[in-house]
Amino acid sequence: MKSPRIPVAILGATGAVGQRMIQLLENHPWFEITVLTGSDRTIGRPYGELVRWVLDGAPPASVANLIVQPSDVVADVAIALSALPTDAAKLYEPLWAAHTAVCSNASSYRMTSDVPLIIPEVNPEHVNLIDDQRKARGWRGALVTNPNCSVIGIALALKPLYDAVGLDIVQIATLQAVSGAGYPGVPSLDIIDNIVPNIANGVEEEKIEAEPCKILGRYDNSTISMATMRMSAQVTRVPVTDGHTALISLKSVRGLSVADANAIYASWQAPQIVRNLPSSPAQPLIIHTHPERPQPRRDRDLGAGMSVSIGRIRSCPVNDLRMVVLSHNTIRGAAGGAILNAELLVAAGYAGK
Ligand SMILES: NC(=O)c1ccc[n+]([C@@H]2O[C@H](COP(=O)([O-])OP(=O)(O)OC[C@H]3O[C@@H](n4cnc5c(N)ncnc54)[C@H](OP(=O)(O)O)[C@@H]3O)[C@@H](O)[C@H]2O)c1
Repeated sequence: MKSPRIPVAILGATGAVGQRMIQLLENHPWFEITVLTGSDRTIGRPYGELVRWVLDGAPPASVANLIVQPSDVVADVAIALSALPTDAAKLYEPLWAAHTAVCSNASSYRMTSDVPLIIPEVNPEHVNLIDDQRKARGWRGALVTNPNCSVIGIALALKPLYDAVGLDIVQIATLQAVSGAGYPGVPSLDIIDNIVPNIANGVEEEKIEAEPCKILGRYDNSTISMATMRMSAQVTRVPVTDGHTALISLKSVRGLSVADANAIYASWQAPQIVRNLPSSPAQPLIIHTHPERPQPRRDRDLGAGMSVSIGRIRSCPVNDLRMVVLSHNTIRGAAGGAILNAELLVAAGYAGK
């Protein structure tokens, strides 16, 4: 007999990321959406009637008749995927985490010391922080986060190099898609025929400089020792719908040639616990050799939007290497990242039946 699927709530289900979660969970082998939440604007109404669906197609029939619930009332589910804005996440995620496993996209708790900031292919062992989190906070559930939408691609690309030769300096310039600002997002008169050289008043750059150091940090004796790379980020918003690009120049600790980097990437594999999760791409990292790839429109959907593309690996006259990294910001960088984290929690025994 087929075992019943695990009941899941989507917090902030009407927004850009919440909609992606719903789209990605249609026909998911482990998870079934039973609860959707929103703000005062939408609660009490059927999802299918009120949502302004910004993805292709229509909302799945399985959720169209669900009545949107308040985000501050904890429902009886095993997992809550949160796509709440920062302020609402700060208030409501701990209420849910006291009872259930919360996988959050929001930045509110990413850098909190007992909250894992996870990319399953990079630092799955950080889930062990949940034991301390539960003890300290008296929770039965848990709170884990996924990184900023640009950081997911960047940290995945850095991981094999960091482990092999250490990293000293990482300089990054991003070209970020408009869907990263949610809906309705950036006004059209600001972004058509234009580039905006700032996101969130510098806070986006702070996240890109801080989060990879926690993700690549070492879990030891209930704490994360941060990686000590020197990070410098500059961000731009560009007229692309989906797909964040990062131009990276880096200097290693032990020296790194183009041939070394290619060999390191060729032999790298995701940890065993991640490889067979339902949302794991067959290739988390795809190395492009064509000199004009990766490109957002052509490469963002590789691996169903869960693969990260790396191209133009070449030497740098100032540092060791330069490269271009591309990832789908609302799939790998948000909704898909949170779902993969939820699958990891089930595989590691922290959530589920
Ligand atoms: N877009 C991306 O690429 C991306 C990537 C990574 C992380 N994130 C993060 O993911 C989260 C969601 O982003 P988004 O782009 O989906 O935002 P969004 O399109 O603005 O959607 C926000 C969602 O939260 C709900 N909401 C707003 N205020 C609320 C409140 N006070 N109480 C309860 N619910 C409330 C909204 O419900 P109503 O419709 O009912 O108002 C809507 O469902 C944010 O924390 C964002 O920083 C986004």
